[in-house]
Amino acid sequence: MNKPARNTLSLVAIALLAAAVLAACGPGGKAKGPAPAAPAATEAKTAQPPVLAPLPPMGFNTWNKFGCDVDEKLIRETADAMVETGMLEAGYKYLVIDDCWQVDRAADGRIIADPQRFPSGMKALADYVHGKGLLFGIYSDIGPKTCAGRPGAAGHFDLDAATYAEWGVDYIKVDWCNCDDLDAPAEYARFRGALDRAGRPIVLSICEWGRNDPWTWAKGVGQLWRTTADIGDNWASVVWIIGANSRLADAAGPGHWNDPDMLEVGNGGMTFDEYKTHFSLWAVMAAPLMAGNDLRAMSAETRSILLNKEVIAVDQDPLGVQGRVIIERGYGGQVWMKPLADGSRAVAFVNYSDRELAQYVRWAQIGIPAGPAKVRDLWAREDMGVHSDTGKHYNERFEVKVPSHGVVLVRIWPGA
Ligand code: GLA
Repeated sequence: MNKPARNTLSLVAIALLAAAVLAACGPGGKAKGPAPAAPAATEAKTAQPPVLAPLPPMGFNTWNKFGCDVDEKLIRETADAMVETGMLEAGYKYLVIDDCWQVDRAADGRIIADPQRFPSGMKALADYVHGKGLLFGIYSDIGPKTCAGRPGAAGHFDLDAATYAEWGVDYIKVDWCNCDDLDAPAEYARFRGALDRAGRPIVLSICEWGRNDPWTWAKGVGQLWRTTADIGDNWASVVWIIGANSRLADAAGPGHWNDPDMLEVGNGGMTFDEYKTHFSLWAVMAAPLMAGNDLRAMSAETRSILLNKEVIAVDQDPLGVQGRVIIERGYGGQVWMKPLADGSRAVAFVNYSDRELAQYVRWAQIGIPAGPAKVRDLWAREDMGVHSDTGKHYNERFEVKVPSHGVVLVRIWPGA
């Protein structure tokens, strides 16, 4: 499936190699005769493009809060807010305009941004976003029309990719509406090929809602792929998505992430505890963290969630492992574990029930040696001291109380 992308990369590598050999052997060059094999191999290695999205992408997307009500004022103000609130500093760097920015195509096929809503044009907007130190993202659809009925990419993959590269697009979410008869792996690979030919590194966010099992083919095509239908700003939706996405941990890793959809934190439909559970589980599942609320008007509670650097560090851990459910308690309790690069473990105790639950874990269950381990509560931002587990005594288990629909998220380092 990912042949076109790979072929393009090999062609680029060969071209760079040829250029290097020419530079070394051409007129004025000192080397004579065939280039030695070893340096050529080194050149080929250094010519590899960097992995796009080695960590789960972080940013903001307009859809969850604003739907089709997008314009350049909102994007500029959001860019300003991302800097002023500390979102950029915390790692949220992609500012993505979702559906409804586009209205038509010109006679030559070029896509046209809504001139009323984006009078300065997309290039100027991308420049503004880049000027703030952010990266710029946009949205399209594999089919002839987007989900909101705007022009899709069908028939124009190369022209669109070239246009977006010219505008300075760094990230594109590509949807799957009006594509029923199409072959998803082939279509997205063709789109990736067009992006590669356009010559700008652009993250491809595949959005076919898990319909065609993208976790089996999208690695090497897109950097992230949606695994479910759209999220809603309610607890039932979050619980349902966690269940669906939790089964796909094997498919995730640096440069290829399961995407359980954008965040609803701060949009008003859930309690503080529910939003903390939503954010914690996205972090433990190494999910992309795309804020979906109004960043210009965040409450202190919303900021305390989206800007919790210790929780973000769990999501952005360089090991890039998607955490898993390690204990399923029938009465609504669940324990998750995500191994982290420094040998510590993120452990999330989740409570889906309607009353407070006491929950525990043994060190053997999280793969650390029996004995002392340091524990830190990532929401309270407090050290919880050293806890010991000899591996023998039941009453040495590490235990916490978890509020209804809430979470206790800790990080555990083996040793005293
Ligand atoms: C689909 C996607 C959403 C959003 C809308 C836009 O439903 O899954 O995330 O992009 O389309 O129309």
